[in-house]
Amino acid sequence: MQKMTTARLSEMKSNGEKITVLTAYDWATAKLLDESGVDVLLVGDSLGMVVLGLENTLPVTMDDMIHHCKAVARGSQRALLVGDMPFMSYQVSPEQAVTNAGRFLQEAGMHAVKVEGGREMLPAVRRMTQSGIPVLGHVGLTPQHVHQLGGYKVQGRTEVAAQRIREDAIALEEAGVFGLVLECVPESLARTISQQLAVPTIGIGAGPDCDGQILVFHDVVGLYDRFTPKFVKKYAQAGALMREAVQQYVREVKSGDFPAPEHTFK
Ligand code: KIV
Ligand code: NA
Repeated sequence: MQKMTTARLSEMKSNGEKITVLTAYDWATAKLLDESGVDVLLVGDSLGMVVLGLENTLPVTMDDMIHHCKAVARGSQRALLVGDMPFMSYQVSPEQAVTNAGRFLQEAGMHAVKVEGGREMLPAVRRMTQSGIPVLGHVGLTPQHVHQLGGYKVQGRTEVAAQRIREDAIALEEAGVFGLVLECVPESLARTISQQLAVPTIGIGAGPDCDGQILVFHDVVGLYDRFTPKFVKKYAQAGALMREAVQQYVREVKSGDFPAPEHTFK
């Protein structure tokens, strides 16, 4: 088994091998994804929405993230593990960013962190990469800016907006990110950025020409039904399957069909 590293991701881009990324938030899921050959597991702050039932990602705390990252680290052997830095854990100052990023590696078993934002994040990104912390960037739709953006919308549609995202991408690469998440941007913009950058791009709602793809696990298997963005493909209806199983359990306990003799100690 070859362990995933940031160097290996860079090699995959050079070879034209697509990079697979999914989110994970707990031991059982991390184990399943790791054993299925997913290259990178992101403990996303999407945790707040799909696991904790929050309206958006803003209330997620460092302690929430560390708790779930530890569980994911225990379940994974091969994947590169990336911890998502929550809102207000890195925006205050580069010192705050490096201190909190350090916790992901030191306490929680992560190999890297992810931060949202463009050029405004360069001092923090430099401080982290210079300290030996691999950083994944994230531009385009950045959900921690939801109140400023006025909702979850496609970004970079005008030439001015596209130019800003391209320049942010290049600046982040210069600051040392090992890869860049492109969220909800037109495919042509994602293609240009993917060609311009040496580091791999990981797309979500960014078309087929990114160097890798990421989705939220709960969306992929049909476990989150509050909202499904256009860019999601549901590969299973696990929510429906689990609901049926639980309904049958309820029926059988009520009727006395469960437990049967084979579940019973004599
Ligand atoms: O929190 C998250 O899951 C993410 C990915 C969707 C990129 O940031
Ligand atoms: Na996130």
